[in-house]
Amino acid sequence: MFLPLIIMNILGIETSCDETAAAVVESGTKILSNIIASSAEMHAETGGIIPENAARQQVKSIVPIITSALEKAKIKNNKIDAIAVTSGPGLIGSLLVGIETAKTLSLLWEKPIISVNHLSAHLYANWLSNKKIPEFPALALVVSGGHTDIVLMKDHGKLKWIGGTRDDAAGEAFDKTARLLGLPYPGGPAISIEAEKYITKNPNIKLSLFPRPMINEKNYDWSFSGLKTAVLNKVKDKKLNKEEKQKTAAEVQEAIVDVLIKKTLRAAREYKPKSLLLAGGVAANTRLKEKFKAVISEHAPSIDFFVPPPKLCTDNAAYIASFAYFNHSPTPWQEISANPQLTIAGQV
Ligand code: KG4
Ligand code: ZN
Repeated sequence: MFLPLIIMNILGIETSCDETAAAVVESGTKILSNIIASSAEMHAETGGIIPENAARQQVKSIVPIITSALEKAKIKNNKIDAIAVTSGPGLIGSLLVGIETAKTLSLLWEKPIISVNHLSAHLYANWLSNKKIPEFPALALVVSGGHTDIVLMKDHGKLKWIGGTRDDAAGEAFDKTARLLGLPYPGGPAISIEAEKYITKNPNIKLSLFPRPMINEKNYDWSFSGLKTAVLNKVKDKKLNKEEKQKTAAEVQEAIVDVLIKKTLRAAREYKPKSLLLAGGVAANTRLKEKFKAVISEHAPSIDFFVPPPKLCTDNAAYIASFAYFNHSPTPWQEISANPQLTIAGQV
């Protein structure tokens, strides 16, 4: 059962990792507010996320962030029709802060609550940012810090997983190699900035230093853990100068981008979707977007390509609310629990 169409304003709550986010979205497509507090700076000091620290920050931020989302949307709680909350995957302590807050509000305001899969919800950034909305069937690549999955969307709520990473996620590969290069957390944006400097200075140079594992295998899986080892072997016991660091960053980025694009394009040839969607934090990567656009216009021009603006690619609560509008019936609050291991297709 889907929510009746009269339900218009959904309050989304997202606390799966190091962002505390709340948003109000009207009819699944119009953002009335989208507020995010990130504890990334704190994690930059430790070179990565310490789950206990992330959860403590969530506790501090959740009430002010929800209050500010309602204020920015100029909406009172009696005009909220449902509350959508991320139930997984994610860090258990962080998830619980959002879930327990959502349950409390649901009981207090007497509003239905909708449990949301964070990974499938990432895709809905593509329903929030374009005048045009994606047509089905859509092929979707979700590339985030914890997951790299390719799915076929036949309709809302009809997702078929067709491949994914066998080890590290693409975002994780960016984060770990950035650390090896002495770049700050999160590594994706840091590598992208350094890589851009090198590519601007050397626009026609071939970037093929690092291996592209599984690129020619006839499946839709990836493997990124070897890249970290290859980078480690390249940089260990060396003090890279500025130029060498920029070149290595460009090589890392190109290796990740190449395998993501080649396999997604192969899936597009097989499944012949009407739309191709990118989502997740790594979809904010400029090189990935530019190369995707170029190969699609050359090899699959009939497919509509969608990629959200960077601030909707990374974690936020607007896509949580949008997903809830298009997909889910309310869940009895007693049945909502944190599922840290949830996969994109829903199994734990
Ligand atoms: O989707 P997301 O915000 O959180 C998860 O659900 O994991 O993704 C975060 C990941 C991090 O690994 C970060 O390094 C990566 O997205 N990321 C990027 C860029 N911006 C964020 N990776 C490459 N290029 C970027 N511009
Ligand atoms: Zn995410």
